[in-house]
Amino acid sequence: MSVSEPMSPIVVRGLRKEYRSKDSSASGTVVAVDGLDLDVAAGEVYALLGHNGAGKTTAIEILEGHRMRTSGEVKVLGVDPGDGGRDLRDRIGVVLQTSGVEPELSVAEVLEIARRSYRSPRSTSEVIDVIGLNDKADQRVGSLSGGQARRVALGLGIIGRPELLFLDEPTTGFDPVARRSFWDLISRLAAEGTTVLLTTHYLDEAEHLADRVGVMADGRLIAEGTPADLIRSFGGSTVRFSLPESEAVTWSEVLQGEIAAQVSGTVTVTASGRVEISSSSPTSDLSVVTAWAVSRRVELPDLEVVRSSLEDVFIRLGQDR
Ligand SMILES: Nc1ncnc2c1ncn2[C@@H]1O[C@H](COP(=O)(O)OP(=O)(O)O)[C@@H](O)[C@H]1O
Ligand SMILES: [Mg+2]
Repeated sequence: MSVSEPMSPIVVRGLRKEYRSKDSSASGTVVAVDGLDLDVAAGEVYALLGHNGAGKTTAIEILEGHRMRTSGEVKVLGVDPGDGGRDLRDRIGVVLQTSGVEPELSVAEVLEIARRSYRSPRSTSEVIDVIGLNDKADQRVGSLSGGQARRVALGLGIIGRPELLFLDEPTTGFDPVARRSFWDLISRLAAEGTTVLLTTHYLDEAEHLADRVGVMADGRLIAEGTPADLIRSFGGSTVRFSLPESEAVTWSEVLQGEIAAQVSGTVTVTASGRVEISSSSPTSDLSVVTAWAVSRRVELPDLEVVRSSLEDVFIRLGQDR
């Protein structure tokens, strides 16, 4: 990397973390992160996706400076978080998967105490406003609902006006309305230039928020790209329609021949007479189907193109392992 090139806020090379196994019958170590490479650019929102135990929390806590790594290189805002100290802490915001906040203090008090340890913090009232807890400002943290407590944790994460924000499963326990307003908040922070690394196992959350997604399994990335990239390369689309019942059998034979020869995807006819073309070029495959139907004066009333979601991609990647 040349000197003039701006350093990405997060650069990870060959990160490895072994835990000593609690199970004495096992080999003695659990490899939680196994050769992770990761780059997150300034201003980017990056979502680490993966099943429980994939290594997301371990990786993010190493980046936050909360865990020691076994080996590999890590730079966060240009410094090694293992010995980042106060300077780094001042520039990052952290929302842990589980955060222990003093339950006897009020929302406003907890935030006020936290803001004192930063050099140019947001005001407590601004943060309370942003996290939508205006009517709870004087309530004890211990008496809040799970979703409200997560908002306080988020408030603690952003009060220092971080350049880089880490969020570990930020919306677990939120109701759908709270999740939406949380997404709006993250989008606003991102629009202001905050770089965000979040973990989630909600695919709609990753699809909604992230510029890029990395799918983690067994401690390493098994796929990475924009949500649209991942859907395109692993998901594809399905063109489907039903055959009119009366002539279903003969038509399915015709279809297998004529359409299968011309479309990009694989044609299958289900037992109920539904034709499905799993397609990487749905637009041109659709035109093959419509040209065929028009030439035979056949109406296909339930003809549709179904685009894959990130969910489909995730399930497929999980199965392939
Ligand atoms: N403190 C720990 N001691 C031993 N094993 C751990 C510890 N923390 C996590 N692990 C193990 O490391 C693996 C990855 O866990 P984690 O990083 O929490 O994954 P995720 O956040 O993706 O669910 C799991 O197998 C987990 O059991
Ligand atoms: Mg986790």
